[in-house]
Amino acid sequence: MNAMLNRVDAPAPAEAIDGAVDTTPPLLDVTGLCASYGKVDALLGATLRVKAGSIVTVIGPNGAGKSTLLNALMGVLKARGEIRLDGESLMRRDVVGRVMRGMALVPEKRELFSDMTVADNLRLGGFRRYRAGEPQPLDQLDWVYHLFPRLEERARQLAGTLSGGERQMLAVGRALMGKPRLLMLDEPSLGLAPRIVQEVLDVVATLRGHGVSTLLVEQNARAALRVADYGYVLENGCVVLQGPASDLESHPKVVDAYLGLARHAPEPVPHSSLVQEAAR
Ligand SMILES: Nc1ncnc2c1ncn2[C@@H]1O[C@H](COP(=O)(O)OP(=O)(O)OP(=O)(O)O)[C@@H](O)[C@H]1O
Ligand SMILES: [Mg+2]
Repeated sequence: MNAMLNRVDAPAPAEAIDGAVDTTPPLLDVTGLCASYGKVDALLGATLRVKAGSIVTVIGPNGAGKSTLLNALMGVLKARGEIRLDGESLMRRDVVGRVMRGMALVPEKRELFSDMTVADNLRLGGFRRYRAGEPQPLDQLDWVYHLFPRLEERARQLAGTLSGGERQMLAVGRALMGKPRLLMLDEPSLGLAPRIVQEVLDVVATLRGHGVSTLLVEQNARAALRVADYGYVLENGCVVLQGPASDLESHPKVVDAYLGLARHAPEPVPHSSLVQEAAR
């Protein structure tokens, strides 16, 4: 069942569905990525790949290094190792250089312009394409409104007055305005109701058909593995497990540690003892 799971932090050849080795170079190819905050090492040689048109998730507990990984990939944080996008090394490219090559990051804090409207925040997302001299830098707007109809309804509302779910939609929508090839999402489910999480992840799933690959960092392993094609488990700055998302979903370690379905779950607490607990 878990035959394709790899416990080691080594680049495994991507397997095609028919079992043949897929020799297509990945869109994102990361090898031995290390990053530190002063003397504290937060990423200890992460190796991972994202195939074009796929959704790859990185799951792991608080402090595992998930945000560090995304910030290192985006160039916000200095890193050692190798990052290749479509074969080209990005290690000497700064953030703008990486954005211009098609990377987009929706950070944990969303970083919207609160006193600007929804529509203006979205227009700013077209800046990369404007700067690249594209003739229609805002031509994604209708598509973004189609993906997130609520953003169109609220186009003139100030971003600072949006609900948490709407802010998340706006952050993703703004990233999509730049027509990225690789969308990196840092915990899109954070603080959102399950229904909104599903709404956002449904959109991520549809992006596969529009030439956008996604690297999804999540603590919500259940939601992430459901939408992803492939997954990595990051712990203490190291990839400790990787495999097709459906295999990871049933791997005992993932089930025990991340899906909250401990196989040796304690018996449900009888109602009477709950009352006693509360009375103490
Ligand atoms: N600016 C910083 N300065 C010093 N240490 C930091 C800084 N940012 C993160 N760290 C440390 O680096 C490690 C990895 O943090 P990171 O934010 O990448 O974890 P994470 O997996 O994203 O966690 P979470 O799920 O809570 O968002 C942690 O030990 C954290 O304390
Ligand atoms: Mg984080």
